[in-house]
Amino acid sequence: MNVMNAFSTPSIENVAHNDDQATQKETTPNAYVRMEDVGHCYDPTPDGPMAVQHINLDIYRHEFVAVVGPSGCGKSTLLRMVAGLLIPSHGEVSVFNKPVTEPRDDVGIVFQKPNLLPWLTVKKNVLFPLKHKYGHVSLEDKKRADELLTMTGLASFADKMPDELSGGMQQRVGIVRALLLNPDILLMDEPFSALDALTREQIGFDLLDIWRDHPKTVLFITHSISEAVLLADRILVMSKRPGTVLDLIDVNLPRPRTAKDMNSTRFCELTETIRGHIYEPHSRA
Ligand SMILES: Nc1ncnc2c1ncn2[C@@H]1O[C@H](COP(=O)(O)OP(=O)(O)OP(=O)(O)O)[C@@H](O)[C@H]1O
Ligand SMILES: [Mg+2]
Repeated sequence: MNVMNAFSTPSIENVAHNDDQATQKETTPNAYVRMEDVGHCYDPTPDGPMAVQHINLDIYRHEFVAVVGPSGCGKSTLLRMVAGLLIPSHGEVSVFNKPVTEPRDDVGIVFQKPNLLPWLTVKKNVLFPLKHKYGHVSLEDKKRADELLTMTGLASFADKMPDELSGGMQQRVGIVRALLLNPDILLMDEPFSALDALTREQIGFDLLDIWRDHPKTVLFITHSISEAVLLADRILVMSKRPGTVLDLIDVNLPRPRTAKDMNSTRFCELTETIRGHIYEPHSRA
C-alpha cells in the first residue's frame, strides 16, 4: 500500500458535512483550525484574571504553526482549547468549521512526556490506541506501524520494552503512536523539552521528515525560539499573562530545512525578532 495514501489528509471539502457547507462558503475555505477572539479565565469569580485573551488565528491545511511565549502566558491553555480538553470562556475555537466542544478523533496530541505503557513493547505501545478504539488491530495498521517505526529509526527496537529506550527514542515512540491514529491535525505541547540539546535538534529534523512524507496540520508549542524557526511556517509570539498575540511571523525559509539553515541571515534575523519580543519588558512574565 502506498504510504502517502495511507496517511493522506482528506480535504476540507471531504470532512465538512452538507449542513456545514453554507457556513463553509462564508468562511476561509481551508482554515482547518480557527480561533476567534479566544480567551480563557480559570477563576470562576466575575473579575477573575484572564489566562489568555483576544487570540485570533487561522491555521491552514498542512501548515506548521509554532507558538512561543514566556512561561505561564497560556500556550498550553490555548492548545487544550483546540484539543477540546478545555472550553474557552470567551470567543470560539473551531476545527473544520465546527465549534470544538470535546476532543475529536481527527485531532492528535503529543505531550512533553510520552507516557508509554511500561508493560507493553514499543510496537504494542504504538498500536495500543488503535486497539483501544476499534477493539482490534488490522494487518494494515501493523504495516503502517512498521513503516513509521522504520522511518523514525526504531525498527530494531519494536520488540523492546520502553525502559530499554533512551528519552529521545521514547519520545519518537510517542510521536509514532499519535501519527498511527492518522489525525488531520497534530497538537504538540513542548514535545522535545525533556530532551538534551543534540537529541532535540535531531528529533526536530525527524519530525520535519515525517511531516514532509505524511503532511499534517501542526500546532507546535515550544520554549525554543530556534526550534520554532527551524520547524514552522508561521510563529505566533505571545505576550506574558494574560497571553495575547504580540506577533505572527511568516518564517519564509525554504524547505527542506537543514542544520545549515540555522546559520543563514534570515534565520538569525527571525530569532532576533522573536527574542526582542520575548525580552521586551511588556512581554516578560
Ligand atoms: N488548571 C488550572 N487552574 C488554574 N489556573 C491554571 C490552570 N492551568 C493553568 N493555569 C494558569 O493559567 C496560566 C497559563 O498557564 P499555561 O499552562 O497555559 O501556560 P504556558 O504558557 O503553557 O506555561 P509553560 O510555558 O510554563 O508551560 C498560568 O498563569 C497558570 O497558572
Ligand atoms: Mg505549557
